Amino acid sequence: MPDPAPPLPALQSAALSAREFEAIRRLARQRFGLDLKPGKEELVSARLGKKLREGNFRSYREYVDFVVADRTGEALMGLIDALTTNFTSFFREEAHFEFLRRTALPELRRKGPIGIWCAACSTGEEPYSIAFTIRDEWEGAIGPEFHILATDISTRALQAARAAVYPAQCFERQSAAWLRKYLLRGEGKWRGHYRVKPALRRTIEFRRLNLIEPFSHARPFHLIFCRNVMIYFDKATQAAVVNRLAEWLEPGGYLLVGHAESLTGISHSLRYVQPAVYAKPGGEAGTSARERSGS
Ligand SMILES: C[S@@+](CC[C@H](N)C(=O)[O-])C[C@H]1O[C@@H](n2cnc3c(N)ncnc32)[C@H](O)[C@@H]1O
Repeated sequence: MPDPAPPLPALQSAALSAREFEAIRRLARQRFGLDLKPGKEELVSARLGKKLREGNFRSYREYVDFVVADRTGEALMGLIDALTTNFTSFFREEAHFEFLRRTALPELRRKGPIGIWCAACSTGEEPYSIAFTIRDEWEGAIGPEFHILATDISTRALQAARAAVYPAQCFERQSAAWLRKYLLRGEGKWRGHYRVKPALRRTIEFRRLNLIEPFSHARPFHLIFCRNVMIYFDKATQAAVVNRLAEWLEPGGYLLVGHAESLTGISHSLRYVQPAVYAKPGGEAGTSARERSGS
């Protein structure tokens, strides 16, 4: 008689039930504001399936119970990392960097130290792009000091952001002089990579922050970038986040959201400037040169 077939590993047969999906949906919403709409079951089971295998959980229920019971918060972190995407790139949504160069920086040039908050910075490409742009624009001239606070919910993304090491392909479009100015070329096992130079890294402070939990800062910001994160939130959460971000803008300061994220249908006090750019009323910045001269 042939040997009976070995039992399949339990996890291979773990399917995501409607109740389990609902439990995950509720948890993600409560803790991160994540809006996992019905229809996302496949995405959830694909992304969390790996977690089940890694932790030898027999079902999604068992995994969720473990996440809820884990007091270190590590498991919850792993859940959010698996469910959200950290996709980002240098100079993503070029129109915003054009706006920075042509409008925001000229307005801010006469100010004191400039404060910028990058509110879902992922692996760092966004805040470094902002720092590169400011340095490029104010090169050789006396521009004000600037400080960038870069936050994200994901500790894994923040770790990569602090390391500031990126594949060389990310900078294919840059000149050799630009590369020399801002980056260190990797050697040995880091061949084919660049690391952002320390002087530029020092302009950015990375910190973990969950946008749906209460937050507070030492002072308001001249610019807030909060791009491609609100797409994960439902309308009510988006409205709450936008209004709390607006509180932390200087009068005349700008909020930049992702071009796929519209503030339509959200009640807020900001003034529309151009697609995906809003200004806080008051102050000098945010007012066009014509408006300022009274003509
Ligand atoms: C798609 S990336 C966008 C990165 C960058 N802002 C850009 O536009 O390229 C979304 C980021 O939002 C972060 N995120 C998701 N939920 C968050 C929350 N509740 N608070 C803060 N960050 C969150 C994710 O960890 C991820 O790094």
